[in-house]
Amino acid sequence: MRGQSSAAEVEERETVRALKKNRIETAESMAARQRDISVSEFFAKNRHLLGFDNPRKALLTAIKEAVDNSLDACEEAAILPDIFVSIEELGNDRFRIAVEDNGPGIVKRQIPNIFGKLLYGSKFHCLKMSRGQQGIGISAAGMYGMLTTGKPVEIISRTDPGKPAHHFLLQIDTKKNKPEIISDKEVEWEVPHGTRVAIELEGKHTRGRQSVDEYVRQTVIANPHIRVRYQEPSGELITYERSSDQRPGHTSEIKPHPHGVELGVLQTMLRDTKARNLAGFLQSEFSRVTQRVAEEICANAAIAPSLSPSRIRHQEVEKLMQGIAKTKIMNPPTNCVAPIGEEQLQRGLESTIPAAFYTCTTRPPAVYRGNPFIIEAALAYGGEGQEADEPARVLRFANRVPLLYQQGGCCAYQSVVQTNWRQYGLNQPRGTLPVGPLTIIVHMASVWVPFTSESKEAIAGYPEIEEQIVLALQECGRRLKLFLSKRRREAEAQRKLDYLEMYLPHIGIGLRELLNLPEKEEKQLTDTLKELLERHRG
Ligand SMILES: Nc1ncnc2c1ncn2[C@@H]1O[C@H](COP(=O)(O)OP(=O)(O)OP(=O)(O)O)[C@@H](O)[C@H]1O
Ligand SMILES: [Mg+2]
Repeated sequence: MRGQSSAAEVEERETVRALKKNRIETAESMAARQRDISVSEFFAKNRHLLGFDNPRKALLTAIKEAVDNSLDACEEAAILPDIFVSIEELGNDRFRIAVEDNGPGIVKRQIPNIFGKLLYGSKFHCLKMSRGQQGIGISAAGMYGMLTTGKPVEIISRTDPGKPAHHFLLQIDTKKNKPEIISDKEVEWEVPHGTRVAIELEGKHTRGRQSVDEYVRQTVIANPHIRVRYQEPSGELITYERSSDQRPGHTSEIKPHPHGVELGVLQTMLRDTKARNLAGFLQSEFSRVTQRVAEEICANAAIAPSLSPSRIRHQEVEKLMQGIAKTKIMNPPTNCVAPIGEEQLQRGLESTIPAAFYTCTTRPPAVYRGNPFIIEAALAYGGEGQEADEPARVLRFANRVPLLYQQGGCCAYQSVVQTNWRQYGLNQPRGTLPVGPLTIIVHMASVWVPFTSESKEAIAGYPEIEEQIVLALQECGRRLKLFLSKRRREAEAQRKLDYLEMYLPHIGIGLRELLNLPEKEEKQLTDTLKELLERHRG
């Protein structure tokens, strides 16, 4: 009967009312509030994960994301990069940053997604050495700007001198993780091809070790082939001309190596593959798997090579993992990683850090979790600006990008501390950095750099990576030791020569008196001795 409730219904309603009053949840009340979380909403709340935790860091991160993209794009298009970075102070902790490149440009239809959607990019799905890897960088910078100032991101891009330049004003709809186009028009632009991104954001401009100035300077060290013009908020323009015309070596994309694959990933790969049988799947989806290796993996896993990948069940995936682990497989190809190179790195250092001694070393390629990588290290010793009684400075780079934050949590820094620098003639208080007028450089180049978080600030401590860093540092340390002992020997010889020279007039007088020499001969004698000493000084 309508309007009349049973005793049970009344009781239920009362319980719900009591629960609500006491704010106690039920499965139903919770269900009403459970829904999808958009990736942009997540990162808007957790902006520290992307490097936007405070205004000072945010200013740097936004510039870094744009510059990384510009350099990646130029490299992919085989263009020598010419980058213009500017910071304009608008007052009240607001800045407008702009980064302009001479890269290949971006086709019109991709611009909204690239700048207005998180997790959209060309680099995530492949194993290739590049600065970007996640597809978050530049859209996150735009989103931060929008959240702190309400202003859209401005983009101009042109792909060809014969085509128009497109100008966009974009915002990100954080609820839907979708771009919102505020305006879209063709404009006059003097640049033949390239991209310009401008973002208004809340920031703080500082100087020092974690500043934009330092980031630009260190970018030049690891990329001697770039030309950068950097306009500071004061209006001053700093230009770094390229110290080399040699572009970084070409790198190719590779497939994952079986020894690095994780169980869940293998399961997904088996589900998604177009291969008809297991042996074919192993050969087509992984690097270094020939027919013979594929058959050996199947034999070691006790699974028929002819089995269809879609019919492989969970226990068999585990067996397949064990089969892979048991099989000896050639290391992945290493032409996919390009080091900076000893000569190039030295040029980069010479153009930015004055020093009395430089040494650089590039290790042979190695592998962690199936990913190839190369470690390089360098030292710059002595010279202006390097303090003799302070701890050495460590500059860390990953795929040619300077890492300015989270030094303590980075495997590169920890490896420097672990290295015994005392054996190379330096002071090193226990468990810390060596002391001296020294800058230590560590670079990791890889198809996938294992960062400790999405903000890409520190390298995770895989033992294989640590080992290579320590070996590279030891090599540089040995060369530094040779330099220091040679310098010590030379200083000692100089000291002796100085001493002799000081006594030369007295020796002349002594000889004249003893041998009864005329004054002219005494002078001749001391002049000859002086000349001898000078010649020795060289
Ligand atoms: N200046 C540019 N010129 C050409 N292409 C660009 C430029 N900036 C961005 N792109 C393209 O947009 C994509 C997305 O850039 P975004 O910075 O968001 O991610 P990513 O560089 O792929 O990875 P990460 O999140 O690690 O930076 C890039 O993968 C690249 O294809
Ligand atoms: Mg990027």
